[in-house]
Amino acid sequence: MNISVIGTGYVGLVTGAGLADFGNDVICVDVDVRKIEALKNGEIPIYEPGLDTLVSKNVNEGRLRFTTDLPEAIRAARAIFIAVGTPPKPDGSADLRYVEEVAHSIAQHMNGPKLVITKSTVPIGTGRLIERIITSHGKEHSVSVVSNPEFLREGSAIEDFLEPDRVVIGASDKQSVELMKEIYAPLHSLEIPFVVTNVESSELIKYASNGFLAVKITFINEIAVVCERVGADVQDVARGMGLDSRIGPKFLQAGPGFGGSCFPKDTSAMADISRRHGYEFEIMEAVLRVNDAIKLRMVDKIAEAVGGELRGKTIAILGLAFKPETDDMRDSPTIPIINGLQARGASVRAYDPQAIENAKMFFKDITYCDDAYSTAEGADALVLATEWNEFRALNFDRIRKALRAPVLVDLRNVYDPHRMRTLGFAYTSVGRAEDAQK
Ligand code: UDX
Repeated sequence: MNISVIGTGYVGLVTGAGLADFGNDVICVDVDVRKIEALKNGEIPIYEPGLDTLVSKNVNEGRLRFTTDLPEAIRAARAIFIAVGTPPKPDGSADLRYVEEVAHSIAQHMNGPKLVITKSTVPIGTGRLIERIITSHGKEHSVSVVSNPEFLREGSAIEDFLEPDRVVIGASDKQSVELMKEIYAPLHSLEIPFVVTNVESSELIKYASNGFLAVKITFINEIAVVCERVGADVQDVARGMGLDSRIGPKFLQAGPGFGGSCFPKDTSAMADISRRHGYEFEIMEAVLRVNDAIKLRMVDKIAEAVGGELRGKTIAILGLAFKPETDDMRDSPTIPIINGLQARGASVRAYDPQAIENAKMFFKDITYCDDAYSTAEGADALVLATEWNEFRALNFDRIRKALRAPVLVDLRNVYDPHRMRTLGFAYTSVGRAEDAQK
């Protein structure tokens, strides 16, 4: 099927390449000329493992191309995926201006029946809004608006798109559902579950899923605080919980709080949507408050590890991105952590395998280093903030010799407490008992 994907960010680019890989003919559109030129030259403007291979394969096989010509992309497509940004407004609600602009463009350039699919995470009711915008321009051609939220995680986006747990389709007519099953035919034949429902339910499934995952992470982060007070080990508690099939082991990894371009935005939007419909979603409000508090607790944890006073100390930070395998700094916990350290008089050295260029937009007066060992040079403490694989097997003799004091703060519980203390480190982490029975 002829498809256009409007917006070539994480979601749009992965969606375009993935749909092409399913056998569709795909045009990816963006207003950013430089980004489109880069893509035409085979350069991928974001770090996402495997995306370059998927894009180049489908470009070479003639199923994927890039343009800034939105009218042409609209006319050429039977199905149009809207994958533009829906950034949070100051009041927490989602900014729909880009979605609305695309809807008006589609209406202006329609040349036949169109299936319009919202791929971006959009507030409940956006599908109806798009339909109203398009039909307000006239009803010469039929349009059907479908919700098809994505659930891809940065760093594993390709796998999440090509092998999803489920495909969610929100539609109001059978023909649209059949067209969507044709677009996703390879998944349909792979017996991937399709959840077919109405547009509002589909839009809510996305927010409810992200909101619940944010609750799960925040829950274990608060359990970690309790563990530190009662002498329990949060890794053991999480394991004991996760073996209950009703809970499941995933997203129970205690850490410095969640970040990223989605969880903070979607939990905030979920609370806002609920409030706009007359209900205070108290758990979502609490998750947002607690998550911010958890990030700031990490500054206290680091201060305690260097004796209580940060003024004049040098703190080495390993990892800046909000999670490994991405260069994305949006809402990374390292932003309030580093700002907090500097506000209390510490100097900061930092290294990240991918995110340093993006990080420079968020920080001032940081010494960026080329690897873990140079980062540790002369520092009063080493902090593991993002669990990149290259930090899992460091040469700790070199690290200890580089540090001014053998202090290691592990915000991701990557290292074994007993081993680190045997290596001579004053080791602290998140929610780990001193003497957990291993
Ligand atoms: C998330 C959702 O998982 C995905 O389905 C949705 O489409 C987009 O938002 P993403 O934000 O890319 O994906 O990353 P994810 O792996 O979910 O991690 C989000 C944050 O939670 C990261 O800061 C991560 O460090 C943190 N996290 C995750 C934890 O602290 N503990 C965990 O156990 C899991």
